[in-house]
Order: sequence, then C-alpha cells, then structure tokens
Amino acid sequence: MREVAVLGIGQTPIEEHWEKSLRVLAGEAALAALQDAGITRVDGVFVGNMMAGSANQQQQLGAYIADWVGLRYADAMHIETACSSGSAAFRAALMAVASGVLDVALVVGVEKMSDSPGDEITAELATAADADWESAYGVSFVALNALIMRRYMHEYGWRHEHFAPFSINSHQNALHNPYARFHSPLTQQEYEKAPMVTPPINLMDASPMGDGAAAVVLVPVEHLHRYPPKPRVRVAASAAATDTIAVASRRDALWLRAAERSARQAYAQAGVGPEDIDVFELHDAFTIMSALSLEACGFAERGQGPRLALEGEIQIGGRIPICTRGGLKARGHPVGATGVYQIVEVVQQLRGEAGATQVEGAKIGMTQNIGGSGSNIITHIFRAD
Ligand code: COA
Repeated sequence: MREVAVLGIGQTPIEEHWEKSLRVLAGEAALAALQDAGITRVDGVFVGNMMAGSANQQQQLGAYIADWVGLRYADAMHIETACSSGSAAFRAALMAVASGVLDVALVVGVEKMSDSPGDEITAELATAADADWESAYGVSFVALNALIMRRYMHEYGWRHEHFAPFSINSHQNALHNPYARFHSPLTQQEYEKAPMVTPPINLMDASPMGDGAAAVVLVPVEHLHRYPPKPRVRVAASAAATDTIAVASRRDALWLRAAERSARQAYAQAGVGPEDIDVFELHDAFTIMSALSLEACGFAERGQGPRLALEGEIQIGGRIPICTRGGLKARGHPVGATGVYQIVEVVQQLRGEAGATQVEGAKIGMTQNIGGSGSNIITHIFRAD
C-alpha cells in the first residue's frame, strides 16, 4: 500500500445558496481544491452526497460533477452512507490511491438542502433511519437523538444546561471561520432559553440545515515531488464500522459501538492513542453526539463527556480541542458534505492555516463522521510531517 497525502483543499461557505445549483456549489469547492493543489487533471472523482436524488432531482453525481469541472472522461462515482457520505467518498478515494489503482483523486462532498421545505428534508433525513422500525412511526433524527439524550441524562444525572459548553464552543470557534453558517456567539442563558425542538433537544443542541460543498485532492506521498511544495499532511489512518440501523436494536443505546471500533482501528493503524490527538473534528449533529463520541473514542470515561466540556478541555488550548472551525452546530451540517469539511478543517490545522482558532503546534488530527444515529461511523487520522 502507498502512503497518501492531501495535496489540495477547498470549500464553499455554508448558507442557503438559493442562487447556486448543486453543480455550481460542488464545482466551486472542487476547483478551489484543484487550484490549491496546483493541478488541473485527476484520474478519479469521488462524490459524497446523501439526498440529491430526492432533494435536487439529480443522481449520477460522479459524471455530473466531473463534467462540470472540466474532468470529463475521468473515472467518477457517487457514494452514500447518510451523514457520513463525505468521509465514505474520501475513504474510497484513499483506497484507490493507496492501492495504486489511481494516482490523483478528487473528493467532493456536496449537499443542497434549501431546495426542499424543512418538513420534506426532515423526512428525507429520516430515510437514513430504519424504514420499518423507526421512520414508519414518524420518528425523525431529532426525535431519535432526543430519546438517546433523555436516557443519557437519566442514566448519568446530567441536566440539560450541562450540555451548553458544546454549543458555546462551536459558536465561539465559528466566529473566526469565514465559511461557517453562523457568526454569532452563544451564551449559557441563550442556550438555556432557546426554543424547544424535541425535548430535551432545543434549537441550540441541534445542527442547522444548510447548503455547502468541500473538496480535497489526494496523491501518493511518493509523487509529492511532482507538485508545488506545501506543508505536507499525510493520511495516517482510515477506519469505518457499522452498527444496527435502528437504535432500539442495540444492546446499549448509550454507547457508539461503531465509533469505538473505527477509532480503535484508526489508532492502531496510526500507532497513536487518544492522548496523541491534538485536534478532533467530531460529529456534533446534536450535543449528545459530542458527548458519546468523546467517550467512545477514549477521551472521556463513560457518561463523563459533558464533564470534559464543562471543564473547558474541548476549547482551543484545552486537552482535546473539538469543532475548532465551528463544528456541525455552527459551521453547519450540509449532510453529505460534512465529512469533507471536517477533513479540510483538520488539514488547515495541521498546515497551521486555522487563524484565530489555530491549535498551536498541532501535528496529529482526527475526524469522526457519523452516518445515521451511529450506524455507519468513519474515523480518519492525519499527520503533519
Ligand atoms: N442553531 C441555531 N439557529 C438555527 C438553527 C440551529 N440549529 N436552525 C435554525 N436556526 C435559525 C435560522 O437561522 C433562522 O434564523 P433567522 O430567523 O434569524 O433567519 C431560525 O432559526 C429559523 O430557521 P428555520 O430553518 O425555520 O428553523 P426550523 O425551525 O425549520 O429548523 C431545526 C430548526 C433544528 C428543527 C432544524 O435545523 C433541524 O431539523 N436540524 C437538525 C438537522 C438534522 O437532523 N440533521 C441530521 C443530523 S444526523
């Protein structure tokens, strides 16, 4: 297997992009990544997207985007694993380059959610749940996460206000990210007084809808001398694991088994442990997911994720800075694009390009992208040389 490096990164702001079509949005990120890499040709295009078929009436995203960005005739495909589609596309591209099948791969994560009304998007998101045992009964993703959060609070004695630091941290970091959906700080009081969505989840526990695209270019490390020099970021590990689609089918709904498995495999591949990770872009689709991800990946004891946040350890300068560019909560969560945004942001950190939210001396960064309510989880580790 060849070692693989990230040569270029690109992203669009996350907003309601009424004036841009899906291809224009994807093209902006793709062309930015190609420009950053200093190249115009690639061998393969891997597109991560969850719901363009229903939300934008567009499938065939491989050819659709390759053609639009001037890469007609390239090998191109679309990959879907719900909210972790972006990381799945990255992982497929990584496998192609590492194995020697392709020499240059472009990964594009894109999602355009604003084209459909909110209730339709909520129903489309719910297609990532179990159609027979969850969505058929009208359970949305917010509702599933609310059930998990309520049980977690009951089990470990946390109150709703104890989850505030996750959202406050994300909003604080997003202030310095020009691509973020929100540029508004959040106070404890605003968090507690936010409108309720599905108890105990209120508006400030949830990630917002949004449109956005992010892209990266991958090449083998052994070919880096062919390209313009830039800070080198290698992919140190890639691991994915699945769990039951229906939350109720799990023996333990408060433990993200797939997060634990994929993180454990990723640590083994990279030869590191949680204590070596300098920055962690986790999947804070809901505050409860931040707590569960930190616990499953070994940063906190079981049931103690909120304590890490309350003690300030998730902030820049803390033991494990998370959501350093705003996370899903404030950077935004255009679902199929999110995994690629996370990777772009870790690369920014490892290149020293994260500005006011730079983690000083960051050398090893991790991303974790969750598809469904924990049913398809993908973890990557990156290393700066
Ligand atoms: N955080 C902060 N503000 C938010 C927000 C969020 N999560 N979601 C919406 N807003 C703001 C909007 O910007 C808008 O502000 P404005 O009036 O100043 O323009 C206002 O709230 C109303 O926005 P709207 O889009 O009408 O909200 P909504 O009530 O239809 O939807 C949620 C809010 C939380 C229900 C929706 O964003 C949601 O379902 N989020 C979860 C998405 C999800 O499940 N993703 C997959 C996870 S795996």
